[in-house]
Amino acid sequence: MSSVNNNASCVGQLVADLEAASQLHQRGKSYKRTYDIFNSKHKVNSWKFNEWDYGKNNIKLPTNARGLFILDDPNDPRIVARGYDKFFNIDEVQSTRWEWIEEFTMGPYEVTVKSNGCIIFISALEDGTIVVCSKHSTGPRDDVDRNHALAGQAFLLRQLDELNVDSKNFAKELYENNLTAIAEYCDDTFEEHILEYGEKERGLYLHGLNLNEPEFKTLPMDKVHKFGEKYGFKPTESMIKEDIHSLRTFLEKCATEGSFQGRELEGFVIRCHLKENNKTFFFKYKFEEPYLMYRQWREVTKKYIEDGTRVFRFKKHKFITNKYLDFVIPLLDNDQQLRENYTKGFGIIGLRNLFLESYGMSGMEILNHEKIKELELRNAVDYNKIDENTKFLIFPIAVIGCGKTTTALTLTNLYKNQWGHIQNDDIRGKDKAQLIKRSLEKLSDPSIKCVFVDRNNHQYRERQQLFEWIDEYKEEYMSYDANIKVIGISFLDGTDLERVKEITTERVLARGDNHQTIQLNKHGEKKVIGIMSGFWKRFQPVDMNKWPDNAFDLLINLKVDNESSSLSNAREIIRQIHETYPVLIPDLPTENELEQAFKSALEHKPENIPKVVKGQPQKPTIKKLKPSFFSAAIKNKKMLLDEIQNAINLSEMNTSSVNKMVEENRTQPEFHITLSHVVQGKKGDAREKRIWSTYMKHYEDEMMKISECILKKRQSGESANPDERETFECSNGDHLKFKLAKLCWDDKIVSAIVELNRDIDHNTCVKDKNNQFINGLDCTNVISHITIGILNVDTKASYSNTLCHKVMEGDIEKVNVIDLSDTITHTAGICININ
Ligand code: GTP
Ligand code: MG
Repeated sequence: MSSVNNNASCVGQLVADLEAASQLHQRGKSYKRTYDIFNSKHKVNSWKFNEWDYGKNNIKLPTNARGLFILDDPNDPRIVARGYDKFFNIDEVQSTRWEWIEEFTMGPYEVTVKSNGCIIFISALEDGTIVVCSKHSTGPRDDVDRNHALAGQAFLLRQLDELNVDSKNFAKELYENNLTAIAEYCDDTFEEHILEYGEKERGLYLHGLNLNEPEFKTLPMDKVHKFGEKYGFKPTESMIKEDIHSLRTFLEKCATEGSFQGRELEGFVIRCHLKENNKTFFFKYKFEEPYLMYRQWREVTKKYIEDGTRVFRFKKHKFITNKYLDFVIPLLDNDQQLRENYTKGFGIIGLRNLFLESYGMSGMEILNHEKIKELELRNAVDYNKIDENTKFLIFPIAVIGCGKTTTALTLTNLYKNQWGHIQNDDIRGKDKAQLIKRSLEKLSDPSIKCVFVDRNNHQYRERQQLFEWIDEYKEEYMSYDANIKVIGISFLDGTDLERVKEITTERVLARGDNHQTIQLNKHGEKKVIGIMSGFWKRFQPVDMNKWPDNAFDLLINLKVDNESSSLSNAREIIRQIHETYPVLIPDLPTENELEQAFKSALEHKPENIPKVVKGQPQKPTIKKLKPSFFSAAIKNKKMLLDEIQNAINLSEMNTSSVNKMVEENRTQPEFHITLSHVVQGKKGDAREKRIWSTYMKHYEDEMMKISECILKKRQSGESANPDERETFECSNGDHLKFKLAKLCWDDKIVSAIVELNRDIDHNTCVKDKNNQFINGLDCTNVISHITIGILNVDTKASYSNTLCHKVMEGDIEKVNVIDLSDTITHTAGICININ
């Protein structure tokens, strides 16, 4: 190509569109940053969008290029470097589902190995200057600890030098062909990622040559290979699959093996074309494992180094992660250098390798190892191994009056020192999980083998809740490898409901006031039967074919159909446990012992019967709560401060004011992200009003609880000053996740701009305790932030918002900004604030 065609008018239009997008406040907003080019008087503008705005059907971006650098020259706004158009993982979006790919794309499919480093764009100017950029940055910078572009450039120059290639010639070839060379810089001495790149492997892995044009065009791999060879790049392995079927078979085979040609691999990038217009189409096929496992190891190690706490609860790879921790903790404890390096990102792979070596398996072997795989599936406990350490929980499935308590008492009378009994009817507070917490606490007693968890559990929902609570709280009370078997005892199967109704009504009415919560004299017969019939209507019999009932390790079917049903039921439970779990009941009791136990159970009177006092004073009415704002309170302030401190330390800017503030402990007493404020709810735009009312509705119950709590406080005289703000963290486990994006400050305030983990399709950033997003609970502030500290006493915290807007709009005169990248994910609990 003799004349360089960077298509000025086209690029001009693109720049205009990008500039316009930078004025947007929300969806599709673009961000521009101007950089000096190394060793050149020229400047370039880097353009990017929020990560979550790419690939959305309802957002049209001016470009999908990830990594786009345009010369900062209104007369010649040429594209200096252009990344690939954003592409997605298989199944990540509609257009990466196999059906879609099959219907709309055509082969041949070029499969390239995905290297695991950082992306580097290499391009050139007319004067022979080589321009090396990282994804969104280039040139000298003093606000980052690692300058990827600079490191990439240094490596490139060394590489050209070794081949005796004049860098001008290299630059000329790129410039004249209007190309950006795209490589992955993999070098553990510079930055560790997940895969290992030691001395031999380190280098620039060339994987693409893009045309510097607005529209995404990339050269075929054979040209890339030729270019790479000529200039000493490391090759990116590639192969051709002619049709979609052989492609899929190949990828899925690699995925089950987790490797390609015996090597661990992050995955593949597949290049093809759209049938409709022959345009280039990319997608990736990433392997989940072993990365997930390795990343988890990295995170738990960091956590341990940070605050000495050992994470126990893992969703996946529980068993092996605990093994890993058992191994690395003593090493970390005894080696400060190791800890320090680890925190800086070095030695991560080394430590992992030490463990793998001692364990005698590779990561893939571990993952494929049948036994361990099974253990993982079974939540890290070898459930098949029943021995004297095995513990048991008994969950009834019943309705009121079936004889749960009488049966439980019969059993505990027999096994006084080994069985426990926790009754839901004894639990008064708001925390319903107390039922399991107390049961687990009891079970953690070395002498206790089995606990009867006395509650009706007449619906799937309640049974499911019990299993979830076990998962959630088990490790607070017991060691991670404690094996708990759960026995279900089903008092009725639904076909016998009429008979059960008759018997239980009679018994409950005869029981009178002899019960903790259901009292005939207090409530009256009608109300008692009303309460009972609620259970009859809602009753869902056990279905062992589906979750949650299929989670029972043993299900014992009982009957409530005779004069001494609780005796025969206790007998049946003992018989079946003896048969299935002889460790728990090695010998059957004699008939006499059993009858004695039943007899004293029938005579039992509960201790916790509330006294009914006539003419009790009226309950004071609870004032309805008027929250002033909803927020997310950062759980680990220290961790966040450490991260900030780290960024400050690494920065070459003048950070003395921030430093001083942190050192003198003048940071805000608590860190929070404001999510929605009453003023926005009353006077804001439609979106703000909608968000506010969604919060108000969603937290209605929670606010009720808080109102009760305030009332109690008031009654006990420990009410706070009514003018002071009070913050209440929601008890339901709602939370959000975020990362720090920028630290900014002027002479008034220090704030951190954060990037929330959002579900954009459902306008929300808040997740429930099961990590499911809750629709509509968004952050009203377009720029979410945390006020870190106030430098000028007359400044209000709300000024943070103004500062952050300034920063995002690029108005940064007298404002200091540190970009934070590769940051930690923090968690914050949702809070309700009242004034
Ligand atoms: P709730 O706690 O109200 O859900 O009831 P429950 O399932 O715990 O039943 P409970 O054991 O309290 O039994 C209800 C009443 O029936 C009590 O007064 C028991 O004494 C009585 N009862 C329980 N089992 C038997 C039995 O086998 N025979 C007779 N005659 N009475 C029984
Ligand atoms: Mg009971």
